[in-house]
Amino acid sequence: MNSSIKNALTFSTVEPSGGLRAAMDKGRAEIIAEVRASGIRGRGGAGFPTSVKWNLAAAAKSDRKFVVCNADEGEPGTFKDRVILSEYAGLVFDGMTIAAYAIGATTGILYLRAEYTYLREHLEKVLAERRAKGLLGQGVCGKDDFELDIQIRMGAGAYICGEETALIESMEGQRGEPRNRPPFPVDTGFTGRPTAVNNVETLAWVACIFARGADWFKSVGTGKSAGLKLFSVSGDCKAPGVYEFPMGITVASLLEAVGGQDAKAVQIGGASGYCVPAGEFTRTIAYEDIATGGSIIVIGRERDMLKVAENFMEFFADESCGQCTPCRLGNGKLLEGIHLLQQGRCSMQYLRELCSLGETMQLASKCGLGQSSPNALLSIVKHFQSEIMGRIPAAAAAARE
Ligand SMILES: Cc1cc2nc3c(=O)[nH]c(=O)nc-3n(C[C@H](O)[C@H](O)[C@H](O)COP(=O)(O)O)c2cc1C
Ligand code: SF4
Repeated sequence: MNSSIKNALTFSTVEPSGGLRAAMDKGRAEIIAEVRASGIRGRGGAGFPTSVKWNLAAAAKSDRKFVVCNADEGEPGTFKDRVILSEYAGLVFDGMTIAAYAIGATTGILYLRAEYTYLREHLEKVLAERRAKGLLGQGVCGKDDFELDIQIRMGAGAYICGEETALIESMEGQRGEPRNRPPFPVDTGFTGRPTAVNNVETLAWVACIFARGADWFKSVGTGKSAGLKLFSVSGDCKAPGVYEFPMGITVASLLEAVGGQDAKAVQIGGASGYCVPAGEFTRTIAYEDIATGGSIIVIGRERDMLKVAENFMEFFADESCGQCTPCRLGNGKLLEGIHLLQQGRCSMQYLRELCSLGETMQLASKCGLGQSSPNALLSIVKHFQSEIMGRIPAAAAAARE
């Protein structure tokens, strides 16, 4: 077993290709109906309902369609897709095959994070075995009307290439820069054709849903957030690693399971997520409360919260693709503001302007990177006021009087 897996994963109990064979007994519309009944939403972060995406791609008219597995996994603090690809690649390919059949695609592409190049040999071997078993090629699983092959394309080593339209640009050999949306990839995706892009974990769960039934998946989690979820847990806790929990788990219960009860805060959703203070640990991890692609970074009592914000903002200032002004200039300005705070050279008025800039970036940036990059700083300023105000000379002096 991979040493970073901390509790038993449902994936280990599902028979390889069991879900695929069960799905192949159904018609295309029935498959999408089963995915809808399960309530599954994308595990890549945005939480878009998988059945809605597949329905749109299935309805689009084209000579050719594509299914893409997003294995770019670039969000800081996320490493669960690496574990799934290492241990349960068969389930991911089952999910891609089910998606391809449902939408009428003949080509699947797994876009693999450049840093995961070492996994390519293993994944190619699994694909070769599937071709030999008739799980790929002409007449998949004995279905005369279904032809599919799956290929692997290497990522470009940039965080932005995980954003689905930048990923498609990168696969086409262009710079990885997000496209204007609409049109959406389900309509105009890879080479201008309908393309369903799904996260690694989403596709693996789809295979489990067909192996165990939509009702099983729906019975776990909350009304709006069905099923189980993998979490990449890192930071100041006793047992970091990959965990499976039901959606809707409270932050407190998760921290107890990983030995992080004494945390001062938890960054949920990676660098682009929110910093949740100890006073809010009763909140739940679910689309209706705190949504996440699965990154949980535990922040211990000794940590300097401004240093935490600096760390994330340095990442975004580096990773902005530079295409739109709010993000290209905004991340640099926010980082500069953090440095001024650290040097005791930031006024109360300037801090307000920094927060207002962050809010403008959330509204005006072209893609999810710039829309979410201010989240960590803004939530740290909101929840750790005394720590931040202590860096503003006038506010610190007033507090001492
Ligand atoms: C900057 C940025 C980076 C992203 N990185 C990833 C990633 O590494 N993996 C991923 O699955 N989704 C990533 N996404 C989300 C994708 O654009 C897309 O929503 C997702 O792959 C859809 O799959 P799902 O519906 O199964 O979640 C990223 C989005 C943004 C804005
Ligand atoms: S928000 Fe940032 S990453 Fe996204 S398009 Fe604009 S500059 Fe590029």
